[in-house]
Amino acid sequence: MKIRKAVIPAAGYGTRFLPTTKATAKEMINIVDKPAIQYIVEEAVNSGIEEILIITSRNKSAIENHFDVAPELEEALKVQGKDTLLKIVQATSDLADIYYKRQQHMKGLGHAILQAKSFVGDEPFAVLLGDDIVDHEKPCLQQLIDFYLEHHGNILGVQKVPGEDVSKYGIVSVRHIKERAYEVSDLIEKPSPEEAPSDLAVLGRYILSPTIFSILEQTDPGKNGEIQLTDALDLLAKKEPMYAYDFEGNRYDTGQKLGYLKATVDLALKHPQVKDAFEAFLKDKYK
Ligand code: G1P
Repeated sequence: MKIRKAVIPAAGYGTRFLPTTKATAKEMINIVDKPAIQYIVEEAVNSGIEEILIITSRNKSAIENHFDVAPELEEALKVQGKDTLLKIVQATSDLADIYYKRQQHMKGLGHAILQAKSFVGDEPFAVLLGDDIVDHEKPCLQQLIDFYLEHHGNILGVQKVPGEDVSKYGIVSVRHIKERAYEVSDLIEKPSPEEAPSDLAVLGRYILSPTIFSILEQTDPGKNGEIQLTDALDLLAKKEPMYAYDFEGNRYDTGQKLGYLKATVDLALKHPQVKDAFEAFLKDKYK
């Protein structure tokens, strides 16, 4: 079955970027010249996704405005003859069919995903976490979809992380089946290095069957008192085939300062307008 729908949870407070995120959605933080969430939406669209549901919350209206038309701005750019900028602005409202749902209570990632139940209906769907930007010629989600089309089941995008970092992620217990691919038997959210069954971390990309919703409805709060997607996935792995796919690409956690800075530097070094001058600046600074 084709994967047509994607869900992007974007309701969190963004506390790691306070005070910036006091009045601004963290997903709107600029990386070179686009807000972080645009990278995620573009990855979904470039992977063949047609409909996107963004889970938002109060104070996130900038996200909706960003993907909407901006008549006054577009008119001003037209009058000023700034055609290139006009195209850039118009392209953001033309990316995909984007829907919004507000999560009214901050009860965790699992609870955020549950908000997508009626949008998803009865078909497999993708989840992309707003903090995780992956840079690769072949979009990360496309890599997972290609694997899904061969194997079906639920697919989790994973990469190896250093042992001391396992406690930041959902970690999978797996059996290797082929290059880059594993069968998943169990998951654990943010284990200590001693508890971790592997060093393979789930990094913000999922293809899931709608069975996840009935499980989420029964899932009690777990780590940090939140309804954890990882706990529901652990149960799902016992009911349906689940695979971990070790995707290619540089992945940045733009939800925290260091990851955000790394993404900014790497993506600036690829940006046609600034890469040469920026590289010269860095070389001069560190010579
Ligand atoms: C969430 C998930 C975790 C996953 C991580 C990926 O954690 O709960 O399983 O590994 O995203 O970035 P968060 O980063 O929201 O604490």
